Amino acid sequence: MSFRIQPPAPARPNRCQLFGPGSRPAIFEKMAGSAADVVNLDLEDSVAPSDKDQARANIIEAVQDVNWGNKTLSVRINGLDSPYWYRDVVDLLEKAGDRLDQIMIPKVGCAADVYAVDALVTAVERAKGRQKPISFEVIIESAAGIAHVEEIAASSPRLQAMSLGAADFAASMGMQTTGIGGTQENYYMLQGGARYWADPWHWAQAAIVAACRTHGVLPVDGPFGDFSDDEGFLAQARRSATLGMVGKWAIHPKQVSLANQVFTPSAEAVAEAREILSAMEAAKARGEGATVYKGRLVDIASIKQAEVIVRQSELIAG
Ligand code: COA
Ligand code: MG
Repeated sequence: MSFRIQPPAPARPNRCQLFGPGSRPAIFEKMAGSAADVVNLDLEDSVAPSDKDQARANIIEAVQDVNWGNKTLSVRINGLDSPYWYRDVVDLLEKAGDRLDQIMIPKVGCAADVYAVDALVTAVERAKGRQKPISFEVIIESAAGIAHVEEIAASSPRLQAMSLGAADFAASMGMQTTGIGGTQENYYMLQGGARYWADPWHWAQAAIVAACRTHGVLPVDGPFGDFSDDEGFLAQARRSATLGMVGKWAIHPKQVSLANQVFTPSAEAVAEAREILSAMEAAKARGEGATVYKGRLVDIASIKQAEVIVRQSELIAG
């Protein structure tokens, strides 16, 4: 390994991020009462241009008035290509109070996009004597975003999480689909006349995970649009978890328990990880670096793999 130690990602659960439009305050209490680890109140693409001012006012009131429990409370601001984003930042930082944890910056295309928001946030925090620094999360959802993913992951000490936004990403890439995540009918291989579906989101997810892990940021899978398709959601979420992502968005409340189920290590997985750690302790006591567990090789790398699962389960339990 490089002599630089891989930095840890923030030690907080992020299995599910539940979204809701800022223009629909009737659902805010329901979002607060959900089992999602993170709540994302939206000012961007689920809010019509004519509703932006009202949505901002709704969110500022709700940040203070609703009991958000121990959730991470995040607001998605408008993109830097819009006329709304500076007002989003200034009003949230000046008026929403200390309960606000995080700002989500959509459509980030380069590190300088994050720098710009950081500069504005830092100025307002200083001017207002805000004690709790706001953290950031970003969405990779454009060709530029994925091309510059590593510099974006390194862009600010405020950055805690990075999501793949499948819909805008597909549009920006010119992909022939209107699906938001999941299996794409035309993305298949042929073998002996049979079709085998592949995953067109895989490479972007893997790039995001690598950039995030390099810089101590949480990698998150974004929306799955077809909220009538639970099996499709589960399959997408399981692929994301296998690749190293820590959670997934819910764009409807029924997706929250599905995400929590996938991104909480199962009791069996945790038990097996603990057994591997015990087997390696015993091997170490015998002066061995490798041993056999259930007929397969485990060695010092297996300790790190098992620790990922044990740490994740302890984080969620704690
Ligand atoms: N969070 C919490 N509760 C929600 C909710 C959400 N995002 N969306 C709907 N609900 C509630 C409804 O109020 C309803 O509650 P009730 O049983 O007490 O009446 C219940 O869940 C069932 O809602 P349903 O009728 O199935 O959905 P809907 O037609 O009201 O809304 C959507 C469907 C997709 C428009 C809505 O879920 C939504 O706006 N999702 C988020 C969109 C978003 O933020 N996009 C940006 C990120 S991609
Ligand atoms: Mg988007």
